[in-house]
Amino acid sequence: MEAKEVFVPITLESIEPVIFPDVALYIKTGENYVLYKNHGRDFSEHDHDRLSKNGVEFVFVSKDDMEVITSHMEASAERLLKSDILTSRAKGKMIYQTSINFVNDIFTNPDKTTDLDRTKRLIENLMLFISDNPDAITSLETVMSHNYHTFVHSLQVASLTLLMHAEAYSLSRDEMLDVGTGAILHDFGKIFVPQEILNKSGKLNEEEIKVLKRHPEEGYLFLQGKGVLSPVALTIVRLHHERCNGSGYPLGLENRDIPRSAQITGVADVYCTLTTDKSGTMTMPPHIAVQLMRNQMKDLFAPHLLDTLEKLVCTEDFQQFIL
Ligand SMILES: [Fe+2]
Repeated sequence: MEAKEVFVPITLESIEPVIFPDVALYIKTGENYVLYKNHGRDFSEHDHDRLSKNGVEFVFVSKDDMEVITSHMEASAERLLKSDILTSRAKGKMIYQTSINFVNDIFTNPDKTTDLDRTKRLIENLMLFISDNPDAITSLETVMSHNYHTFVHSLQVASLTLLMHAEAYSLSRDEMLDVGTGAILHDFGKIFVPQEILNKSGKLNEEEIKVLKRHPEEGYLFLQGKGVLSPVALTIVRLHHERCNGSGYPLGLENRDIPRSAQITGVADVYCTLTTDKSGTMTMPPHIAVQLMRNQMKDLFAPHLLDTLEKLVCTEDFQQFIL
């Protein structure tokens, strides 16, 4: 059987005409992906205007082209963030647009537009909130320019953390913003970890692991010192590596001693690490990752949170298949 081509949505606003990589772009009509431009033809200002006037918010690229697009976005994000022309709000918007291009990968089925719309709304609100807070936006920019993969990963974790909270509990808008801010900055402490360790492809040695494991406490201390994050957000930064059986760090807390928001962020963090690679694209099917977390990582996570995760990321087709 021929493998089905998988498409990834890219926000139209994040495509800079002419300099965007020369890949085929598709638009979606009904259930079908229609070729808009093939390799070898520039995507012009005119194309951009035309699609925008027609209310097109996303164009689609083949998943096989994602690697080249990720490197392009990494380079342009760095360039734009370093420029003094952009206001904090504009930078927030740019980070948001880049972000939306990566959050879709947390779902089994990229065609599930309801999930994408829901995630987009949650992240949009979060980004609007963050872009009004100069210290928070600076913190996020710092993560983005230190290690792009950490930034993409943080976005995916924040999206899933927000979705899990929305699914399992009814939080007020303010509480959701606190949780989202904590989740998006959960790995802030990695800015203190050298690039060689963060980007190392092989196994880390003991000393490197020790350095890496300092990131929750270092991130917490730094952001606490800044005095801009709420206690809930700071708790997520500090405790997202705590595990129910006490094997986590930095404090080795158990079960209910680990605040709910930190537990959920921990589940989302591990799930996203298992399912996506450094370019932000999916490498392990969601149901395999959930099974692995239930069986091989037994006792690390609260079972009811794994149920919530499964409900969000595994399709009904799969549930029927295993029954
Ligand atoms: Fe972490």
